[in-house]
Amino acid sequence: MNIFLTGATGLVGGELLVTLSQRKEVDKIYCLLRSQTEEQALARLEQVFNLHEDDFDRDKIIPVLGNLFDEELTASLKSNKQLEDVDVIVHSAANTSFSRVNDDLVEKANIGGLTKILLWAKDLPHLQTFLYIGTATICGKDVKDRVVHEDESPNLDATHLVKYTYTKMKGELLIREHLPEEKILIARPSIIMGDSRPVVPRSPVILWAMATINHLRLIPVNEYAQLDIIPVDYAANAIVELLFADRHYHVYHISAGEEGATTANKLSKTLSAYFDEMPPFNFINKSLLNQVKHWAKNRLQPDSELYSYREYLDYWKETFQDKSKLRVLFSGLDPYLEFMELGHVFDNSRLLEDVNIGNSVPADIYINNSMQFVEKLDILEGAIDP
Ligand SMILES: NC(=O)c1ccc[n+]([C@@H]2O[C@H](COP(=O)([O-])OP(=O)(O)OC[C@H]3O[C@@H](n4cnc5c(N)ncnc54)[C@H](OP(=O)(O)O)[C@@H]3O)[C@@H](O)[C@H]2O)c1
Repeated sequence: MNIFLTGATGLVGGELLVTLSQRKEVDKIYCLLRSQTEEQALARLEQVFNLHEDDFDRDKIIPVLGNLFDEELTASLKSNKQLEDVDVIVHSAANTSFSRVNDDLVEKANIGGLTKILLWAKDLPHLQTFLYIGTATICGKDVKDRVVHEDESPNLDATHLVKYTYTKMKGELLIREHLPEEKILIARPSIIMGDSRPVVPRSPVILWAMATINHLRLIPVNEYAQLDIIPVDYAANAIVELLFADRHYHVYHISAGEEGATTANKLSKTLSAYFDEMPPFNFINKSLLNQVKHWAKNRLQPDSELYSYREYLDYWKETFQDKSKLRVLFSGLDPYLEFMELGHVFDNSRLLEDVNIGNSVPADIYINNSMQFVEKLDILEGAIDP
């Protein structure tokens, strides 16, 4: 089987690349990379394998230079003769930014880029499967505090917290416009954070949010809202197993489900046990986030409720000195708090029915393996580019 993979240098794509390369059914993996030269591309791929000392086989892993933004991307893929033997496309590349300043780039990568790949894919002579890495959060923000099922999305009436989830929802619709249903496989992961193994996680992205929450200790979010979080190794294994399984569906949640979900409260207990010299966690109403932002701008009214947490305000002053740092942290954290408040649990019974993988270990347990890494994370650096 020959695979064409996008996003191989990312959190999920990197893990997919390594996992796929270990399968005996896989002959070649062509990886789309936005590098300037083939040498650079090979070095980036080698880095993906070096992270956990996996074996990098240059005969098996082949870089294909290209950018989802290239106007000529479809034409260059079509004219690349070695790609005519591709049987499976795994599209994991995306712009995953939650920040409004990136909305245009998000749309250009996740809708424009996907369209270019599809225009090439639909004429591929041997294409069996187009595996799209979607996201479970396309259900939108109107769904709250309940279990969400695959067939509730894509829903054009859903309202979205960020452009990213909207573009991922549109992406699923686009695939259906270009390819017949039997060639489509959509894997919708929930929130992917860290790794369940005692290894350096492939990317600090969502761990950054946890590390920031750990530093702040006074958090405006519902601590009992369910959080559907899985580690990247579980996500990649589940997706790869699904690719080779006898499937009964075209869309699957890759998620913790009811059994494996966690809460901010449970995560805070794991963090407290490791970082035992910090103030206790205190979760306050989400509506107080605005007061936090006002306080950080020295504009908080004297009779505000936030002053009843004065010991935390003193702790913040002492820890961060400069209030602008706190403003940066909270503006990066803001969309994460919004998602945390939604209480989504993504039903995983389809996955468990078709793949013998079992439930993911809950995040408050597996995350113990990443504590040293969390300790070292530079949260201010991460806030600037979360
Ligand atoms: N992480 C999660 O929690 C999560 C949850 C649910 C679903 N997902 C989905 O999983 C997929 C992968 O996400 P991720 O977390 O791995 O993201 P990521 O770490 O940000 O990686 C994104 C990948 O896409 C590539 N890419 C971005 N823009 C590109 C462009 N213009 N041209 C070519 N390649 C481009 C990046 O290449 P460079 O290295 O060159 O930047 C990188 O390899 C996405 O489709 C996302 O929607 C992720």
